[in-house]
Amino acid sequence: MSSQRVLVVDDETKMQRVLEIMLQRMGHEVVCAGNGEEALLAIRQAPADLVISDLRMSGMSGTELLKSLREQGNDVPVIIMTAYGTIESAVEAMKLGACDYIVRPFDVDALEIAITRILTESRMRRQNDFLRNEVEKGWGDFIGNSQPMQHVYDMIRQVAPGKTTVLISGETGTGKELVARALHRASPRSEALFVPINCAAIPEEILESELFGYVKGAFTGAIKDRVGKFELADGGTLFLDELTEMPIALQAKLLRVLQENVIERLGSNRLIPVDVRIVAATNRDPRQAISDGRLREDLYYRINVFNIDLPPLRQRREDIPALVHGFLGHQAGARGISAAAMRCLQDYGWPGNVRELQNVIERAAVLGRGEEIDVRHLPLEMTADRADAGISPPVGFASLELTPAVDRLEAAMITEALKRSGNNKSKAARLLDISERALWYKLKKLDLQG
Ligand SMILES: Nc1ncnc2c1ncn2[C@@H]1O[C@H](COP(=O)(O)OP(=O)(O)OP(=O)(O)O)[C@@H](O)[C@H]1O
Ligand SMILES: [Mg+2]
Repeated sequence: MSSQRVLVVDDETKMQRVLEIMLQRMGHEVVCAGNGEEALLAIRQAPADLVISDLRMSGMSGTELLKSLREQGNDVPVIIMTAYGTIESAVEAMKLGACDYIVRPFDVDALEIAITRILTESRMRRQNDFLRNEVEKGWGDFIGNSQPMQHVYDMIRQVAPGKTTVLISGETGTGKELVARALHRASPRSEALFVPINCAAIPEEILESELFGYVKGAFTGAIKDRVGKFELADGGTLFLDELTEMPIALQAKLLRVLQENVIERLGSNRLIPVDVRIVAATNRDPRQAISDGRLREDLYYRINVFNIDLPPLRQRREDIPALVHGFLGHQAGARGISAAAMRCLQDYGWPGNVRELQNVIERAAVLGRGEEIDVRHLPLEMTADRADAGISPPVGFASLELTPAVDRLEAAMITEALKRSGNNKSKAARLLDISERALWYKLKKLDLQG
């Protein structure tokens, strides 16, 4: 078994030594801590694969340490050591999630066997989690056979084999990342890495060093060399997510790299050749982004060699039942869905597309607690504005003049859409299912604050 990192927590240095020698002989890396607080610190600095802790220590006890770890969301396996006579507390520790306990004085062989078993199990569990994640994100995980989606699958198959740069566009939640991963998987590069980088989520100042890496001393805080995502993706695929959020100056640099296929780490002038396929995604209209000055036109042409545009869910409603059943299948215990609830889902506008649908199903399955999912388990906005639920006039029927009443209804709905979208015009327009231009026009006409 490869070397693993074991954290030994004991307030007796003699005991630390004994365990250290034994673990090192087994080929593991050992870190010792004299109490619970030190142990928490050590684990924050570098994660451990196993913790062996004494039960009774000055300060934080072994069980308290275990509790803190779990509260921090750390599920590292913990073995509790206990002196003869305090077995009840050891059993207590097992209930809190310790994976084993040993009674002192202990039998070295038995302890070695226990350690090997626990480390092997947890490594297998990690590998399985990883594989399951990979499979869940993979090619075979697309649901939906509508015409527009079949067209998408065809395009993926066509473009995957080469090195063509691909721009994936489409509203939020339509599956752009899923497509990017599928492209990689179906390509001859699938043995190398798929490296995603989200240009919107990474602060401007560090995006450049994330992409290209840096050498020690390149800037304050650069205490050692670091490989960038471009180098990581060598031979594989680099996924530039939310490309339009990349600062313009960096876009110029990226363009140069794409033309020349070499990078320089920050602070170095050594040219490193890279062989990377670029897949980029954006949920903005790229043309609009160009005219807004967010996307360099020359970069757009360099990247948009092949475009896959994902259709919003409301334009392929026939996929909704399959998606619902697919997502319900992932929810343990859920027992189907009523026809009325399915109708609501099929009629809704889905501004958040497949991701929103996934969330709604997850939530409904929780609320339904194993019952059939029904209308009452769905969010209000999906059920309240249905035609058969009746419409209440925003103005009463005192006057039957149509134009001012319609204007007021429009104004109320636009205001609500702006509120829900955090005053983001393009999102609000999508919620209203009108073009952004139409929204601007209406804002002006209705004299609303834009
Ligand atoms: N056709 C599909 N079949 C099954 N699941 C899908 C499909 N499309 C999207 N999903 C799921 O919906 C969620 C959102 O997809 P994804 O992250 O790819 O969207 P996105 O277009 O990148 O959104 P954003 O622009 O917000 O980043 C993911 O959990 C994804 O697995
Ligand atoms: Mg995405």
